[in-house]
Amino acid sequence: MTSLPDRRLLPERAIESLSEYVAAAGGQALAKALTIAPERIIADVKRSGLRGRGGGGFSTGVKWASVAHDPCPTKYIVCNGAEGEPGTFKDRYLMRKNPYQLLEGISIAAYAINAKKAFLGIKKSFEKEYEAVSRALAEMSARGVLGPTPIEIVRGPEDYLFGEEKALLEVIEGGDALPREADMPPYVKGLFVADPAELNPAVVNNVETLCNVPHIVLRGVDWFRSVGTKDSPGTMVFTLTGDVERPGIYELPMGTPLRTLIENHGGGITSGRPLKAVFSGVANAVIMPSALDTPLDFGSMQGIGSGLGSGGFIIYDDSNCVLQIAYRFSEFLFVESCFQCIACKSGTNQATSALRKLIDGTGSGADVELVLAGARSAPRANRCYLPVEASLLIPSIVLNFLPEFVRHYDRGCQGCREAVTPKLADFDESTGKFTYANTTAAADVAGWFG
Ligand SMILES: Cc1cc2nc3c(=O)[nH]c(=O)nc-3n(C[C@H](O)[C@H](O)[C@H](O)COP(=O)(O)O)c2cc1C
Ligand code: SF4
Repeated sequence: MTSLPDRRLLPERAIESLSEYVAAAGGQALAKALTIAPERIIADVKRSGLRGRGGGGFSTGVKWASVAHDPCPTKYIVCNGAEGEPGTFKDRYLMRKNPYQLLEGISIAAYAINAKKAFLGIKKSFEKEYEAVSRALAEMSARGVLGPTPIEIVRGPEDYLFGEEKALLEVIEGGDALPREADMPPYVKGLFVADPAELNPAVVNNVETLCNVPHIVLRGVDWFRSVGTKDSPGTMVFTLTGDVERPGIYELPMGTPLRTLIENHGGGITSGRPLKAVFSGVANAVIMPSALDTPLDFGSMQGIGSGLGSGGFIIYDDSNCVLQIAYRFSEFLFVESCFQCIACKSGTNQATSALRKLIDGTGSGADVELVLAGARSAPRANRCYLPVEASLLIPSIVLNFLPEFVRHYDRGCQGCREAVTPKLADFDESTGKFTYANTTAAADVAGWFG
């Protein structure tokens, strides 16, 4: 495996005690932060150019400022550790490798926005992460090195929607993972609102985003910007899965070409086969092999009509059938929706059924039209971004691989390789292997468990 000289967030070896963390300068950032005016910390985070690592790439400093400047006296900070994006495992890896770094980042964010309380939302099934973070929280609290804001860990459901920020707030309030109506200004979402005049705004930030914060505070803005690109400074923790020789989790400078991730770090496509398609999770358009030299930063990935997502890249070689891939992704987005809005209840449902017909051999050009129209149902009074993901992803597959769709008309898949939507359940560092949550017969066929 190639060496990774620019690792900032991922230590070589997991940090398993507070003394180990302190020996590696841990805790110094929070101690420093508490001597600085919150306003200056927010200004530095803004100047650092840190962008959210949870998928949207929104400026963290701008988000913090919008809540910090809200006149409501009660504010919250929420760390999103739900990690449900297919093909992504970096938040769990960060929590396992260094839970102290995350808690320090949460505490600094809480101080900067003057939060009454901090929450960390993780799935109930994330046992190893819960164990690591709760142990670190107990140690840091006992030693009094966490700052004044209490941190509560909330264990939530398996739903993909648990990671959607409005649904995450619902779960923290004791409800189900159902996105509430977006009736409040963007990035200012209330928690425990009793009086409509007091919105109790909450900042929601991803685990990796907050792991960057102690380093920015301790080492400074220039240090942070010394790797990465102007548009997207710093490193990103990329997850690589699918048909590559060395699936894994790689922290690299932003702006590293996608080809370098796949070929140098991932060892290239399995058995030297040609690449067919790359997906950055299920929220962006397909990345074609011709775009392999694109730098992995927010602007460049948008520039090719796709997106960086949360840095999880799923690789499919030429032995895959794109109809199978499109079907699995569409099915995932439909099954994981909550059916509150027409775009999912009807649109993604229609796209998934039409794709099934095409696979089964009873579909034709009219069904391709149904796939496109169904997937493009959003935006249409949707409470959350999930069906927009379908509208970006599914038509991009159809339009880039139309001849392959045409070949399936009235005959369907004839011995096509079944595809997997990689819902990652675990990662074994010693073998470099992921475990998939969807261990169905279909998944076994894909041979990703080898
Ligand atoms: C369906 C759906 C699922 C999401 N899942 C996650 C997730 O698991 N983790 C995450 O950090 N963000 C997830 N997001 C994005 C969050 O809503 C939110 O934008 C993010 O946590 C903000 O953090 P950041 O600014 O640090 O990126 C999801 C969004 C959608 C629409
Ligand atoms: S858009 Fe879809 S997933 Fe989002 S709240 Fe509406 S039905 Fe649920």
